[in-house]
Amino acid sequence: MNESNFLTLIHRNTFIRGELEMPCIPALLDLYMDRLKTLFDTFGKSFSPDELVHLRSLLIDKLIEGFRISPLSKLIFRYEPSQSPNTGISYTITYAIGSITDQYKNWVATKEPPLFGNHADAKVMETFNQLSDQFGGAGQLKVLDIGAGTGRNAFPLARLGCEVHALELTPAFVEQLQTVAQNENLPISAIAGDILDPLTRLKPFTYNLAICCEVTSHFRDADQLRLLLAKACDYLQHGGLFLFNLFVANEDYQPSTLDRQMSELSWSTLFTYQDIDSALDNLPMEIIANESLLEFERAHLPPEAWPPTGWFENWSSGRDVFPLEEKPPIQLRWVLCKRV
Ligand SMILES: C[S@@+](CC[C@H](N)C(=O)[O-])C[C@H]1O[C@@H](n2cnc3c(N)ncnc32)[C@H](O)[C@@H]1O
Repeated sequence: MNESNFLTLIHRNTFIRGELEMPCIPALLDLYMDRLKTLFDTFGKSFSPDELVHLRSLLIDKLIEGFRISPLSKLIFRYEPSQSPNTGISYTITYAIGSITDQYKNWVATKEPPLFGNHADAKVMETFNQLSDQFGGAGQLKVLDIGAGTGRNAFPLARLGCEVHALELTPAFVEQLQTVAQNENLPISAIAGDILDPLTRLKPFTYNLAICCEVTSHFRDADQLRLLLAKACDYLQHGGLFLFNLFVANEDYQPSTLDRQMSELSWSTLFTYQDIDSALDNLPMEIIANESLLEFERAHLPPEAWPPTGWFENWSSGRDVFPLEEKPPIQLRWVLCKRV
């Protein structure tokens, strides 16, 4: 008997079951189709052309649904033996929703602190010191820290004597902020909330300085950036400053849909200069500085504070999205705006 007879018998008597978990990224549809096709071909359980069309339509629906809810959702493909005439396999496609707060809760449970570094950003301190000189002392200033995390910036500012309102999405961090503020009797109010939630309301025209550090990397799109800038305009006093950072594509680089979706997955949500311009359109705010964050912080942080964390240099230079590029076409930048 020749070998192909045996192969047919082996394929007929091979039963496969298993599960694949992959990021819920719609732009990866073709890659996922190739993977699944190759996997099933390998076991001699090839999909028919009709089955491939059906698989593709199920896959794209779930990818779009899961990604719309969160870029951290996972696609789950489960397969097991069945009576299906072609592959002899049945499968289900679902997704598990991921969230930033769950992932940070997991960081708190599993990672050694400090999670984001133990030194305030050099650019935050420089901006704060300028305002402090201008207003005759730190005690005259009110600061809003949006997405304050573990208080890496909020605590040093409060220790200098200014009043800090620290808005934070992740409940585990809000608790940490409250505990340290109470223990040290610092002028910090920790507020649990999402800056993008229309129901999150702070007092208008209140702050001299608002900061938002390493937060827009979790945003979904330029509309959310606009909402952030509009809220900063509402909360700042006239002449107040808003310092934030964001990943920007180099001017000569037009990001693809895949680049943008992968940047969201990698906590490095990508914006273009056009996105920034349209987010600022008709808002009473103007950009007064825009510079490379990595270069600024490397040059100005004390040597013992560099790098802030083990992941910081790769992340801020865009290598979490483009791991194979020596010089990725995106970078994290400081943007300083003035409320007019
Ligand atoms: C990478 S951490 C940075 C923390 C801090 N700003 C720092 O630089 O050390 C990002 C923080 O932003 C918070 N965050 C993300 N999206 C937010 C939102 N929409 N509103 C408020 N906080 C948010 C997260 O919970 C997390 O604490």
